[in-house]
Amino acid sequence: MRTNSLSRLAPSLTTFTVTVALGLGLGLTAAVSTAGCSKTKEPAKEAAKEPAVPAAPEPPKEPAKDQVEVFSWWTGAGEQEGLDAMIADFKSKNPTIEFINAAVSGGAGTNAKAILANRLQAGNPPDSYQRHAGLELADDIKAAKVEDLTKLVDAQGWRDKLPKGLLDAITIDGKIYSVPVNIHRANLIWFVPKTLQALGIAGPPKSWKEFMTQAATIKAKGKTALAIGPAWTQKHLLETVLLGELGPDKYTGLWNGKTDWKSAEVTAALDMYKAVLSVSDIKSSAADWQPAADRVIDGTAVYTVMGDWLDGYWGRAKKLAYKTDYDVTATPGSAGVYDFLSDSFTLPVGAKHHAAAEKWLIECGSVQGQDLFNPQKGSVPARTDADKSKYQGYLAAALKDWQDPATKIVGSLAHGVVANNALGAEIDTALGIYVENRDSAGFAGAVAKAYAATK
Ligand code: GAL
Repeated sequence: MRTNSLSRLAPSLTTFTVTVALGLGLGLTAAVSTAGCSKTKEPAKEAAKEPAVPAAPEPPKEPAKDQVEVFSWWTGAGEQEGLDAMIADFKSKNPTIEFINAAVSGGAGTNAKAILANRLQAGNPPDSYQRHAGLELADDIKAAKVEDLTKLVDAQGWRDKLPKGLLDAITIDGKIYSVPVNIHRANLIWFVPKTLQALGIAGPPKSWKEFMTQAATIKAKGKTALAIGPAWTQKHLLETVLLGELGPDKYTGLWNGKTDWKSAEVTAALDMYKAVLSVSDIKSSAADWQPAADRVIDGTAVYTVMGDWLDGYWGRAKKLAYKTDYDVTATPGSAGVYDFLSDSFTLPVGAKHHAAAEKWLIECGSVQGQDLFNPQKGSVPARTDADKSKYQGYLAAALKDWQDPATKIVGSLAHGVVANNALGAEIDTALGIYVENRDSAGFAGAVAKAYAATK
């Protein structure tokens, strides 16, 4: 393990270690042969007086520490506390393993994913990394970047503790490739009840059309209807407008080829997205999702569309009260639908601390790990047998909705469930152009082409 960790830090140290090891071996041979000659030959006697060459290397004073390097993008308030809670539990169960938190900041992993791709390319993977269940993970499986974890999953008895749909999203050809730690909901619109009251708005909008009507009132009173952040939050908004305008089946059809991107109804849904953007603060958009959310709390903006990690940020990190200081509901037109995503952890091929990485995965898959992580993070547990009493406020409602058989489940675009990385990247490029030129038909055409080319 020690040699491995050195080689990770600097390849030249590996050479050094190997040289020293060989040197000791040769020294030992020399000592034996000179001792064998010492009775007859003077020079050998001289040699015998030399300080004795140890027969074996001294054992290290302290046992070599094992370690595990875990890669994620959870550095923001709320998310970091969730990760820290799980790390603390991991450390108490594995006191001899040094935990290296290799988290890279930036919402939705925009920065982290680029760095990770370079590391994987260079053959220098962390010991475990965060990957969304779904097509984002499937790319890694197909590229043989992640190990088959079926044995571990079965040894831990996790298979029947995970919902079938989620299990499918981490399985290819019957083999399971990651350990899901949570379930997030993407289709949520957040607001401050007192702001709505002050504006004379009865409640959050039930359709995007109603949202636009409210936006006119909001604008007249000098506020922004919707706070938004960087490109990935614009993509996140796009999926919720498409979902609300098309409904869950046609939304899902966008990702399985059954809904034609170039149809009139998709163009109409995109025109609604354009309208929604026009009443947002996109021209001065926030640097990330937290500062966008801050605008809702300070009252300059009325709504923000974001996943339920915002509950971790407002409810736990900022200690705001659910229902009083803030409230949340399904994005317009998506009541009864759970637009889901799941953070899962992998064991990359070539991980240097395999056994320790498995220990980390065991933490992620355990009831205790999930029940420590998720209440802080603002997500519900991936496991079906977690302790419900740990999920209060918004999370109690989320857990109820997630487990309700009547809830319709669809997968997130912006968070890796329904689009592979190639299609996701094409959509990013096309969306960057679209938010500038607002050409709905042009965007639909670009996505249709990308979908055909990448499926
Ligand atoms: C998602 C991730 C969430 C949360 C969010 C904001 O992609 O799955 O756990 O971190 O980004 O950064």
